[in-house]
Amino acid sequence: MRVLVSGGAGYIGSHTVIRLIDAGHDVVIVDDFSNSKPTVIGRLEGITGVHLPVHSFDLTDVDKTEHLFAHESIDAVIHFAGFKAVGESVSKPLDYYQNNLDSTFSLMRAMDRHDVRTLVFSSSATVYGAEPQLPMTEDLPTSATNPYGWTKVMIEQILTDIAASDDRWRIAALRYFNPVGAHASGEIGEDPSGIPNNLMPFVAQVAVGRREKLSVFGDDYDTPDGTGVRDYIHVDDLAAGHVAALDRIAKDSSPISIWNLGTGQGVSVLEVIKAFEKASGKPVPYEIAPRRVGDIAASYADPSRANSELNWYATKTIDDMCEDTWRWQSGNPNGYPDA
Ligand code: UD1
Repeated sequence: MRVLVSGGAGYIGSHTVIRLIDAGHDVVIVDDFSNSKPTVIGRLEGITGVHLPVHSFDLTDVDKTEHLFAHESIDAVIHFAGFKAVGESVSKPLDYYQNNLDSTFSLMRAMDRHDVRTLVFSSSATVYGAEPQLPMTEDLPTSATNPYGWTKVMIEQILTDIAASDDRWRIAALRYFNPVGAHASGEIGEDPSGIPNNLMPFVAQVAVGRREKLSVFGDDYDTPDGTGVRDYIHVDDLAAGHVAALDRIAKDSSPISIWNLGTGQGVSVLEVIKAFEKASGKPVPYEIAPRRVGDIAASYADPSRANSELNWYATKTIDDMCEDTWRWQSGNPNGYPDA
């Protein structure tokens, strides 16, 4: 298939581009580079050995999106593009709703008009809300605790309604748990702008000496060691899950499917620190800080639906995730170069 990857220069998008090409698909990227660097494209071309067509614009621009579909041959879309910082979404809700919803509307309209009805959407385990039942199964009710999370809930609802309106659609919503790690080459990885919000990039920046110490947000949760428990999944396993979902929906008869992509294993903050120290050989100094508002004690997937229906399994351990993150971070202490 010729696959349009929106947000293809981003963290998960870039790893998925590599997996798509490995699986024999062709890729077209659309990215506005608002939260990614153009230098990632050259690295992707170096790894894959293929030229990657890139369209640099914001998908909320309806005319440009229409023009893209009119001039490129596209069989399917993987839609990663979107704003994703939880804290920022609380202070700028209108930006989040407008950007994440308008870009999806613009994309879906253009797809419909050009008879492209195969879509894989980046959703999140955040749709399981504030008090999830564990492990999380796809049929639990959805809700959110912040505007970012609500955009995922809303887009899932919109896609469900679109799929119900016309059975030619083939849509997958993939609920990611906590993506971490980097490509085995060390050339592609997560490059957050500013102070990282998420645990793994923060730990990596402490280990490489860019930040002094980590704040562990709470050690009094009802978990084995008191720190938050998450289902960390290697970004390359996650990328493989997209290819598996795309192949499945292209053959499937159901207009919409939802799959959790996680390992099913919970790992605590202190366990991540320990694994990272082992992988890097560097100390990760930390202090215990108050709980972060909106955090839950534990989150982990029941990945059995994706295991059985996609024949997809997360294969990498937390040690693999830390080793690959360290290779990326130590080789690129300041992330991607500007040019
Ligand atoms: C967060 C978002 C989630 C989003 C996901 C995207 C919140 C409340 N949730 O998930 O909606 O889909 O990122 O990747 O922001 N931690 C520390 N110190 C730090 C950073 C994190 O102790 O400096 C702890 C957290 O309390 C948590 C764990 O590490 O227990 C993982 O945190 P994080 O990487 O931010 O992911 P989530 O909160 O699970």
